[in-house]
Amino acid sequence: MLILGGGLMGLAIAHQLARRGIGVTVLSRRRSEAAGFVAAGMLAPHAEGLSGALLKLGQLSLRRVPSWVAQIEADSGLPCGLRSTGIVVPFQSTEERDQYPTAAFGESLDREQLHQELPGLAASWTAGLLFSQDGQIDNRRQLMRALESACVDRGVQFQEGVEVQELLQDHGQLKGVRTRDSEGTLSTLSCSQAMLCSGAWSAQLLPELRVFPVKGQMLSLQTPRGALRRVLFGPGTYFVPREDGLVVVGATSERNAGFNEGLTPQGQTTLQQGIAALLPEAINWPPMERWWGFRPCTPDEGPLLGQSPIAGLWLACGHHRNGVLMAGATAELITDLASGSAPRKDLAALLPSFRWDRWRSEP
Ligand code: GLY
Repeated sequence: MLILGGGLMGLAIAHQLARRGIGVTVLSRRRSEAAGFVAAGMLAPHAEGLSGALLKLGQLSLRRVPSWVAQIEADSGLPCGLRSTGIVVPFQSTEERDQYPTAAFGESLDREQLHQELPGLAASWTAGLLFSQDGQIDNRRQLMRALESACVDRGVQFQEGVEVQELLQDHGQLKGVRTRDSEGTLSTLSCSQAMLCSGAWSAQLLPELRVFPVKGQMLSLQTPRGALRRVLFGPGTYFVPREDGLVVVGATSERNAGFNEGLTPQGQTTLQQGIAALLPEAINWPPMERWWGFRPCTPDEGPLLGQSPIAGLWLACGHHRNGVLMAGATAELITDLASGSAPRKDLAALLPSFRWDRWRSEP
């Protein structure tokens, strides 16, 4: 089985397939561009205010995270950095708080409770929701490394620096892929089944897919010890405190940036303004690192899961802001489908909501 893309989704699926004894090769163009290395690692279906099928998928995914992480940690012998810190969403009024799409799943906080949870929060925030079931995982420094190691230990083969240039098909059935390696050598690999996990770049291989990039710029700050216990999820800006005192701050959401790489003055200003509006003292915390990446978005911000227009090609892409949260459940579902096992009913019931052609009737 070929996995097209060595990001979080590709690795998670490769790992699950390998655990079932299926031979897997991962084709990866550039490891560092994977959203799994860029994201903040929030496990936040409630804090993100999801709704409908996306909320359901997020909640099912959240429940599966501990057992998924336990598998990766057992196979790799490495920690993934899963932390149940809870996430607090602040609001400017109780009305705003009570209208939040996921308010019913959170604990309502008044002004005093909110500021107790988040010392240093700007005074203009007067109400909050605490989602203690939401959490975070250290995707950048731990999860990705552990997952790669778990894959290697389970016998997954990797081809790095290999770009898939074309999908080869015969009468709608996948036959193989044409690739180009870092030296420019073109090759053809035969396969009857493959997983398309190419993140924001998925539509470059299959233009029918409505996946497009939404650029995010981020940074990390070194905090004074114990400065932030919870994840703080404000509108447009969030703070994710890691175990060792580093805080990941994100993120811009740039729909018109295309695949333009790099930090921009405007993006950095937006982040600074977001920090000042939420946690003014954090403006003085020393910045450690700045980076950017591309979220794989779709018109309704839900992923593309399951069958594609090409028989034998399975889709696991377009998770937008929730890839880390949904990787485990996605891997389980897609592995079941591709290996001919019956997927779990609760996940299978969501497949129609995440079909690649769900917008086909729209103009
Ligand atoms: N999940 C947060 C983000 O995409 O910025």
